[in-house]
Amino acid sequence: MMEIRAYRGEDEAGVLGVWGQTMTHDRLTPDVFRCKVLLDANFLPAQLPVAVVDGQVVGFALGLTRQVPLFLQGLEPEKSWITAFGVLPEYRRRGIGRALFEYLLMRWAGEGRQTVEISPYTPNYFTPGVDKDAYPEAVQFLQAGLGFEVDTEAVSMGLNLSGFQIPAEVRELERKRATEDGLEVRAVEAADLPDLMPFIARYFGWDWFRHLQEYLLEYFGDSPHQITFLVARLKGEIVGFCPQRRERFGPFGVHPEVRNLGIGRILLFRCLEAVSSRQTYFSYFMWTEENAARLYTMAGYRTRRQYVLLRKNLQSATQTEGAV
Ligand SMILES: CC(C)(COP(=O)(O)OP(=O)(O)OC[C@H]1O[C@@H](n2cnc3c(N)ncnc32)[C@H](O)[C@@H]1OP(=O)(O)O)[C@@H](O)C(=O)NCCC(=O)NCCS
Repeated sequence: MMEIRAYRGEDEAGVLGVWGQTMTHDRLTPDVFRCKVLLDANFLPAQLPVAVVDGQVVGFALGLTRQVPLFLQGLEPEKSWITAFGVLPEYRRRGIGRALFEYLLMRWAGEGRQTVEISPYTPNYFTPGVDKDAYPEAVQFLQAGLGFEVDTEAVSMGLNLSGFQIPAEVRELERKRATEDGLEVRAVEAADLPDLMPFIARYFGWDWFRHLQEYLLEYFGDSPHQITFLVARLKGEIVGFCPQRRERFGPFGVHPEVRNLGIGRILLFRCLEAVSSRQTYFSYFMWTEENAARLYTMAGYRTRRQYVLLRKNLQSATQTEGAV
């Protein structure tokens, strides 16, 4: 007999066992699970259904909806996300994955939510979407089985920084922008914060604000050595920022009105130089779109993983199919 029920405290080892055998490219330790799942303010046990057969957890699906607002982005009551799921190989093609998804999708359709997305939930996503090379079965399951559609694609890239040097043309570009346009690129200082934080919120939204604020809390708090954080000013005005925390790069951004002047390239190369001077020899990020990937490729980044972001409309599904 298979039962689908809400997560309970004693399920941790069972869920992590299934996670390790199914999300083989995204394994995680119990401490990461506790911090990113159980302690997420939006976590609800009823949104982490587990499938149990003979007392054993054989499948799970981790769903999220906002229980607390993300700054002024609010509660996003029309949205829902599934960030991880798996069914043990020997229990596949018996309808267990579908039953786990139905449990969540029925609940959310009943709450009047419009969409479910896999898996771009902030802050605690694991991957931007489904890695199409690592999990082809999941893509089939979502598209053929459950009627999800691909919304967009994203890539994760990485760069070995051993021996990293800023190319002569980028140095020359920086010299030109400095003398002709008054560009200044340097490590963030406390005096930048009154301009920097409203700039981030206004042009890059609350999720980036939250992410960068977390880095700056560490930088100006008790672990500055983990963080490289550069800013760009143009004739004194804040126009860009570029961080890396340990090996994780970004998010970095340039004011929309001064893009295509090479400021992003200068920030990127200067940041990587600063990171390698700290003897950190790798740089990766989880998520970018194809266009920005060109800039990273110029710096030597290579694609690590490719993701499809999938979406399903909950309301039309309920009307046309009567269920999920
Ligand atoms: C994706 C996964 C959860 C599906 O679980 P499942 O219990 O086998 O799914 P179901 O039996 O409920 O499948 C429902 C429908 O989806 C479709 N489907 C599922 N797996 C499929 C596959 N490998 N190929 C084609 N269609 C598939 C079918 O239409 C199926 O219905 P059918 O069996 O009546 O034809 C499972 O393959 C898995 O754990 N994969 C690895 C983990 C993973 O990739 N997680 C996502 C990471 S982001």
